[in-house]
Amino acid sequence: MTSAAPASTRQPRAHWPFKIKPLHPAFGCEITGITLEQAIDELAFASVYEAFLDYEVILFRNVDLPPATQVAFARRFGEVQIHPMSQYHGYGHPEIYLLSNLDADGKPNGKHPDKGTLYWHTDGSWRERSGLATMMYSEICPNVGGQTQFCDMHAAYDNLSPEWKARIRGKKAVHNLDFSRTRRHGHDPMTAEQKAKVPPVAQPIVRLHPDTQRLGIFLGDHAEYIEGMPYDEGRQLIEELNVAATPAHLVYAHDWTTGECMVWDNRSTMHRATGFDVAHDRRKMRRCTINGDKPMDGFFD
Ligand code: SIN
Repeated sequence: MTSAAPASTRQPRAHWPFKIKPLHPAFGCEITGITLEQAIDELAFASVYEAFLDYEVILFRNVDLPPATQVAFARRFGEVQIHPMSQYHGYGHPEIYLLSNLDADGKPNGKHPDKGTLYWHTDGSWRERSGLATMMYSEICPNVGGQTQFCDMHAAYDNLSPEWKARIRGKKAVHNLDFSRTRRHGHDPMTAEQKAKVPPVAQPIVRLHPDTQRLGIFLGDHAEYIEGMPYDEGRQLIEELNVAATPAHLVYAHDWTTGECMVWDNRSTMHRATGFDVAHDRRKMRRCTINGDKPMDGFFD
């Protein structure tokens, strides 16, 4: 395994009607020279989608993005998820998942809105059609902490030892939102009705990206056990691989400022939030996740 950030082989394409600034030596870029509104426009969107595939995480700064516009922009990427935990729906839009520690007066309420987000995961891996992308917008950012960290799962797979690759080849993990919710935010569990909407689902641990045909690790905190393996053994493998898949040199940590919009590829990255002082600081983010395909196993034999 290597421990230096791999030099990026990614280059902006000549026909792109915008510029890019890399966020990390290996992946992620800020798009400059066009507004988000222009980016989702018919003429530019194909190029923006190419940049999204090439860089896996794209960022627009200084964006004014009302909730309804966010939903409309997210729809350019595909069908937007309606999260089963409706207590998170925001601004009258079931497509918006609101992460906020503010009470009705805009004061910190002392509670983290979703502790599950503090652990490496990929959005919607608990659904048969897992998340394609997530579009997150920063309304209010804390003074300290509250980053979102990203890790490139293609590079993470390439970085694994041959022994690790052999250990996970062709294996499936069962992803279960009720499992991760209970484990990380168990004081506020899912209702029976919510659980019924998202039964556990088996997903390949090494998936083939449907657009780029690259192999990547697909795991994270929603993975509960491994099909065909004793429960505890599978748990141990999942815990170990979640660590092995997220070495520091492959992680980009984003410090948010107000009015930023980030779109990340859930098929090739994992992410997690970092903590902040929920009793005294303020953080308000809204997220739309776009439904993708049923993940394909990276191996056919
Ligand atoms: C998420 O995990 O989807 C949200 C990440 C964050 O709050 O930074």
